[in-house]
Amino acid sequence: MGIVGAGPAGLLLAHLLHLEGIDSVIVENRSRQYVTERVRAGVLEQGTVDLMIQSGVGGRLLKEGMRHEGIYLNFQGTRHRIDMAALTGGRAITVYGQNEVVSDLIEARLATGRPLFFEADSVSVHGFDTGAPAIRFQHNQEPHEVRCDFIAGCDGFHGICRGAMPHRSYERIYPYAWLGILAHAAPSCDELVYSLHERGFALFSMRSPGVTRLYLQCAPDEDIDSWPDERIWKELCVRLSTSDGWKPNQGEIFQKGITGMRRFVAEPMRSGRLFLAGDAAHIVPPTGAKGLNLAASDVRNLALALTAFYKSGREQLLDEYSDKSLRRVWKAQRFSWWMTSMLHLSPEGNEFDHRRQLAELDYVTSSRAAMVSLAENYTGLPMD
Ligand code: FAD
Ligand code: DHB
Repeated sequence: MGIVGAGPAGLLLAHLLHLEGIDSVIVENRSRQYVTERVRAGVLEQGTVDLMIQSGVGGRLLKEGMRHEGIYLNFQGTRHRIDMAALTGGRAITVYGQNEVVSDLIEARLATGRPLFFEADSVSVHGFDTGAPAIRFQHNQEPHEVRCDFIAGCDGFHGICRGAMPHRSYERIYPYAWLGILAHAAPSCDELVYSLHERGFALFSMRSPGVTRLYLQCAPDEDIDSWPDERIWKELCVRLSTSDGWKPNQGEIFQKGITGMRRFVAEPMRSGRLFLAGDAAHIVPPTGAKGLNLAASDVRNLALALTAFYKSGREQLLDEYSDKSLRRVWKAQRFSWWMTSMLHLSPEGNEFDHRRQLAELDYVTSSRAAMVSLAENYTGLPMD
């Protein structure tokens, strides 16, 4: 297997294939430090956690990950708890930073002695429609070619694999973004808080007993320099505080950044012997916490299909890979769209839209059926 990209999708795929005795080469254009320090997702679905544990890379996740059985929805000054475990027969999410997932997977990869190239230049893919696929790249100024049976395009939204194959795409860029921070502050609540305020969305999350992760809705073209720390804390406190006096603890901000929001799907996720997985094929707005989890379910499908091919020559699962993965992708798009539109203020919105959002939140926090739907989607629909 030739794998382009050492994000969660590429690394997990390589690991699952290694366990089945299938050899791979991973080609990544950034440095090891860059990929392990990139601050992104934090919420792992039950199925992603189970996959990591069953495949032997869940040791630190089990020790350091924070299992959450509920989440809060906060609106009009009141926090409402959704007891996800009680509503789903015991399913939960685990808060564990994506950079920790990537670090654990890199350690596991290096321990196998199988190849992983960082800082590869001019990566390109060839021959996947002719039966002789190859990845070409430069490394330390030397040209390299990986000849392989299949290529996995795990190179994220801005990678090169998707553009190399025919596909149809669906895309929308949202008219708002998230400003995210990490702060040295003990989390003041032991579960996540999603908040709709008349000044916009805010989210309380965490990374460890000493680190709080927080997000607030801002304009997509906002300049981070116009957000000094005091302004960020003031806005977060206004949007998150509840009438019982709860608010986030404050501390030194040691990381901040603005991320635009989009939704995107490429169909199909395969062309000949090239398979896309993860953000290379689809992006969801982050409100549903689904991106990393979709990457994990794609590569699980792909690893199963490749294993069946190598063990028995059967191509059926490879043929079904795109449709099977896209079915889950579209459900995650639906859920992420719903969470996003319920919790963000749209610049084109009006008072009617805001009242409708409040009615939606009122419904979701009072109807058992609606709570079950939220809980089963948030903790992750079963992988089939
Ligand atoms: P990536 O992580 O993008 O990895 C792709 C890799 O390919 C990168 O290392 C890149 O350097 C490399 N690459 C790119 N181009 C090339 C090339 N030409 N040649 C070689 N290598 C290349 N998801 C969740 O599930 N839960 C959350 O709570 C969550 N929160 C998020 C919060 C934020 C602020 C953001 C931005 C995202 C969040 N996500 C979340 C989404 C999640 O981070 C992504 O879906 C996830 O990173 C996808 O993994 P991937 O391996 O497919 O892609
Ligand atoms: C986090 C990110 C998300 O996108 C989300 O919906 C919840 C939590 C986080 O980074 O902790």
